[in-house]
Amino acid sequence: MIPVVKTIDEIRNAVKTAKKQGKIIGFVPTMGFLHEGHKSLIVRAASENDYVVVSDFVNPTQFGPNEDFESYPRDIEKDRALCTEAGADIIFNPEPDEMYCDPLTTVSVDKITKTLCGASRPIHFDGVATVVSKLFNIVAPDRAYFGQKDAQQLIVIKKMVKDLNFDIEIVGCPIIREEDGLAKSSRNTYLNEAERKAALCLSRALNKGRSMIEMGEKSAKTVKKAITDEINREPLSRIDYVEISDLETLQPTDSTNGVLVAVAVYIGKTRFIDNFIIERVDE
Ligand code: PAF
Repeated sequence: MIPVVKTIDEIRNAVKTAKKQGKIIGFVPTMGFLHEGHKSLIVRAASENDYVVVSDFVNPTQFGPNEDFESYPRDIEKDRALCTEAGADIIFNPEPDEMYCDPLTTVSVDKITKTLCGASRPIHFDGVATVVSKLFNIVAPDRAYFGQKDAQQLIVIKKMVKDLNFDIEIVGCPIIREEDGLAKSSRNTYLNEAERKAALCLSRALNKGRSMIEMGEKSAKTVKKAITDEINREPLSRIDYVEISDLETLQPTDSTNGVLVAVAVYIGKTRFIDNFIIERVDE
């Protein structure tokens, strides 16, 4: 089994030693309770780098006051087995006190954090940008891997890396799904049988939207309505948002060219997100 270290000094020393040996460092930041989606990031990182660090830290500052920070699932020994199998070299698993000591500094990315998930989770992206900056400074990787499932997070981190000149390549990786289409998420474990079935309305609705665009639909409004109607057909669902946004600005758009099509839906008490991207083609 690979080592799990708890302190900033330990992870820094381990990475320094690897770098002295000429190794290229890959980094996969996570909040633990790892599943196949995380595993795909680690496997990719291991195939493209010589030494892979996984951080396993449920970051308190990205959860709102009524969100699930306390109940967020944790299982470091299971995570350790998955990371070992996937080819990681070390896990950084700090306690909140190791990461935060009365900080007065926040990293805040403007505009693109105000729409979509940022509209209903106002402090979330400050928490993410700040902890990812700290982790980047602690681990000092050459490449860092993020899932496309958190599409807005990936876009925010790419912008932050550009704006703050982090010398790190950000690699976005595809969404990993269950066989029936549900996007893998640590929060899937919250679902009972009926809710698990109901949660399929997200991928079903998005598939419908994607087919419409692929068949030539140009109106974002029409696609958005079809997705919304499909989700609303599921009685256990409550929509937070259904949005079609410009891929760069993350502002709502009327076009279906160069867009992020994203949904956030409550199934019972749990909020799920899913999305797909339509790359821009010159018309
Ligand atoms: O995507 C996540 O799991 C988290 O937001 C991240 C990037 C590890 C920061 O806490």
